[in-house]
Amino acid sequence: MLENKVVVITGSGQGIGKHAAKTFAQEKAKVVIADFNADLAKKSAAELSALTETLAVHADVREEESVKKLIDQVISRFGQIDALINNAAIVPHFAWNIPRWPLIADMPVEFWDRVIHTNLYGTFFGTKHVIPHMAKRKSGHIINLYGGGGRRLPRSFAHAQSQTLPVGRRLAQRAKIYGAAESQDRRAQGGRVS
Ligand SMILES: NC(=O)c1ccc[n+]([C@@H]2O[C@H](COP(=O)([O-])OP(=O)(O)OC[C@H]3O[C@@H](n4cnc5c(N)ncnc54)[C@H](O)[C@@H]3O)[C@@H](O)[C@H]2O)c1
Repeated sequence: MLENKVVVITGSGQGIGKHAAKTFAQEKAKVVIADFNADLAKKSAAELSALTETLAVHADVREEESVKKLIDQVISRFGQIDALINNAAIVPHFAWNIPRWPLIADMPVEFWDRVIHTNLYGTFFGTKHVIPHMAKRKSGHIINLYGGGGRRLPRSFAHAQSQTLPVGRRLAQRAKIYGAAESQDRRAQGGRVS
């Protein structure tokens, strides 16, 4: 079912994004590994090329131009995008040697900006630039990752990515023009253009 579908996963140089990329690769989808760590992106793409066709792209989701270039590059290579997974994020907790987030009283504004630009704007830019291609084909899926904590608005400011919930809902509403479905999954949600 996924064979030859083109799947773009941001932040797939490591972690959950890489795991998702491997899962798609095992199903023979063409997988685009997009990450701002170019070495990690190349390494993941090289590993998964044993399973399927892969493309490593150096992209920074905080920069609109970089995201636009990513989407353009994928379209010029594969001619279509069947799924975009907005996965790249600055994660607030344990794992993979990432330090815990500072408490708000100690948090430099640069850190705050980096989180907002990665977790929130990154999802917006990816969605914005992939939609026209999916709309043209009346087909495509957008999946937004977020850090869990349920579908209610966050009690603290801490999880900027939770703000992608309304973005996803809005997308699903708009995509209904094409007959969209909104995922009910607690951790991954977005819209389907079909
Ligand atoms: N780890 C968890 O327990 C957990 C739980 C629920 C949801 N999530 C969500 O899953 C997603 C992935 O989390 P993870 O734990 O694999 O994180 P991770 O830190 O292991 O991986 C994040 C990846 O994103 C890349 N990245 C960071 N900033 C980027 C940018 N500006 N542009 C492009 N790439 C960038 C990093 O290089 C890295 O490869 C996140 O959206 C997170 O909120 C994680």
